[in-house]
Amino acid sequence: MSQQKGHSKEEVMLQCGEKKAICRCLKSKNMPFCDGSHREEGEGIMPIIVFCEDSK
Ligand code: FES
Repeated sequence: MSQQKGHSKEEVMLQCGEKKAICRCLKSKNMPFCDGSHREEGEGIMPIIVFCEDSK
C-alpha cells in the first residue's frame, strides 16, 4: 500500500469469474471493499463493481 495525495492505494487480485465491490464512499470498515456502509448516509454513492471475465 502506498500514499498519494492523502488517499491510499491498494492492489486487489481477482480470480477469473470473481466479482468484487470496491468502496467509493470511504466509510467501509473493510477497505478497499464495500461493506454496505454507503447505504447509511443515503448520499447516492455506490461501490465500483470490478470483475474478471474469462476470455476463452
Ligand atoms: S461502503 Fe463505501 S461504497 Fe459501499
